[in-house]
Amino acid sequence: MPSRFWNELGSSSMKSYNYYRHLFQDYAKPFAFVDMDLFARNREDILARAGSKKIRIASKSVRCTFLLRELINSSVTFQGLMCYSPREAVYLSKKGFDDLLVAYPSMDAKDIDDVLRQTSEGKRIYLMTDHEQHLLKIDKQARARGLRQPVCLDLDMSISYPGLHFGVHRSKVNNKKSTKQYLNALAKYPNVALKGLMGYEAQIAGLGDKASFGVKNSVIRRLKKRAIPEIAKRREQTVEMIRAAGHKLDFVNGGGTGSMETTRTEQYVTEIAVGSGFYSPTLFDYYDNFKHQPACAFAIEIVRKPNRNTYTCAGGGFPASGSPGIDKAPAIYLPRGAKLTDNEGAGEVQTPVLYKGPQELSLGDPIFLRHAKAGELCERFNELHLVSKGKVIKTVPTYRGEGQCFL
Ligand SMILES: Cc1ncc(COP(=O)(O)O)c(C=O)c1O
Repeated sequence: MPSRFWNELGSSSMKSYNYYRHLFQDYAKPFAFVDMDLFARNREDILARAGSKKIRIASKSVRCTFLLRELINSSVTFQGLMCYSPREAVYLSKKGFDDLLVAYPSMDAKDIDDVLRQTSEGKRIYLMTDHEQHLLKIDKQARARGLRQPVCLDLDMSISYPGLHFGVHRSKVNNKKSTKQYLNALAKYPNVALKGLMGYEAQIAGLGDKASFGVKNSVIRRLKKRAIPEIAKRREQTVEMIRAAGHKLDFVNGGGTGSMETTRTEQYVTEIAVGSGFYSPTLFDYYDNFKHQPACAFAIEIVRKPNRNTYTCAGGGFPASGSPGIDKAPAIYLPRGAKLTDNEGAGEVQTPVLYKGPQELSLGDPIFLRHAKAGELCERFNELHLVSKGKVIKTVPTYRGEGQCFL
């Protein structure tokens, strides 16, 4: 039976506490869920934001085979997957996915060999490189198998200003000189084929400019504005140099959820990597250019009531990776107005919640929270309940639920 709260509230993007409480009344807590109505809306908004570019789905921000398949099958704009480890790429390749870009380098001989085996079977997996040692290792193993392995160059998009490294520390290739060195090294390794260029402008794509914490928003906006033309120029110059050296690229990848509006304006970019926007975790609430829907959340159970306005729940302490800070903590989603305590936050075994609002809460009721990042939540749950139009329509395994833990 669809929830009676569906007609009343479910068609709006702002779902109520009662909508989800009613829907999940027979489900054991804690659990994680994806609201497929909001997920579909995010997908449509992301497709529109891509303009004429393709989208490569960043699998780390989804971590659920079922949902990756749903996405990839839903539009020809979805070009393939951006994986976060060779082992994951091989796992997905064996499950029928193709066109897999491994976005981070590996030095593990077995992992590389497993990728080579997929290549020999006709699958398209690109390994990430930026250092001669990556090329040497892949070349040696590819030669032993009599293959030419497609690789991608990771072009570092960070910018150093006096006293500030604006961006993330990724690759040693970040200008004309280092690109030339990379291309010269590449020429020594005939069993490696340069087929892709990726540049992730994390300082635009992964840095909110409407945050209420940390560095002032206006400073971030100014830094972003200054960096955008520099990023475009760097990418363009690198593509020209790669072409001049005789390589034919299958793709030029850039950006992420937070930079679609600027990455799509670059003529040389063929595809944008997007993952987080589908679930839209709390770190993606703070961008000027777009607003996606809170499609993914988790529920914990009220098990104690130590005083009038405090509801203590079991578990809940699922912080996100990255530099530690309040922005990495889970945030209470529903009921609206409920808060974590400053002293305890979301804890390993218990999470006290302060609430003075109109909603009546009893022991056994859920409190709904959102994670700061997208796919990481799936490392804490074996399953995701999928919800649509007032019903739980399916329960599907996360990577963890399929017995997989890649990073
Ligand atoms: C190489 C690369 N591209 C793109 C992204 C953007 O992914 P998302 O859309 O999940 O922010 C990331 C995220 O870390 C990344 O590492």
